Amino acid sequence: MKVRIAPSILSADFGRLAEEIRMCEEGGADVIHLDVMDGRFVPNITFGAKVIATARKATKLPLDVHMMVLEPENYFESFAAAGATGMTIHVEAAPHLQRQLSRIRELGCLAGAAVNPGTSFGGIREVAGDLDLLLVMTVNPGFGGQEFIPASVNKVARARHILDEMKSRAALEVDGGIARDTIEKVWRAGADTFVAGNAVFTAQDPKAEIEALRRICLETV
Ligand code: DX5
Ligand code: ZN
Repeated sequence: MKVRIAPSILSADFGRLAEEIRMCEEGGADVIHLDVMDGRFVPNITFGAKVIATARKATKLPLDVHMMVLEPENYFESFAAAGATGMTIHVEAAPHLQRQLSRIRELGCLAGAAVNPGTSFGGIREVAGDLDLLLVMTVNPGFGGQEFIPASVNKVARARHILDEMKSRAALEVDGGIARDTIEKVWRAGADTFVAGNAVFTAQDPKAEIEALRRICLETV
């Protein structure tokens, strides 16, 4: 299985955002993860389309936009126009999940669904055919630098089982507290896409850290 490392720019220096993104690209990142927060779905505010457009200019890598917002459909058009490659919405904020995921695909983007630690997979099986990515949150979203929730490992294994059972080829992403000491467990459990904010941007050598995270997975059989 391929390992995809997705640095989250939430922990980057926003005064040097383009450079930070280029550094991730040079370090071999597969995807750039952008955390959009609205201060309503989560108790923090980050950024919107303007920063997505800035990231788009800085790199050719896919831009994976994680939407921690209520009524995410209000932003689909502007984020797609700004250059998002994929948009991931939270099932807790998506009463019409199937319609919302289809709309993301209609706009030419990859469609993702995210579940918080306290949310079960509920209707995920029903939308398996509409999904390009399933994001299992391994912290409660809102902030970078939080501690990985150990019960997530079992949850990732269950997510893998569901995707396999539904013959889905969706990526299985984990987000929150992913670092050298946690990545191996979620990789073994079946995740293939790893968001890392703090681990990458607080490292002395962020490029080497991206490589180190990937190596831990590849050396684990
Ligand atoms: C958390 C965000 C994450 C965050 C991860 O709400 O969704 O993407 O940036 O940060 P770390 O890797 O520091 O836990
Ligand atoms: Zn995120």
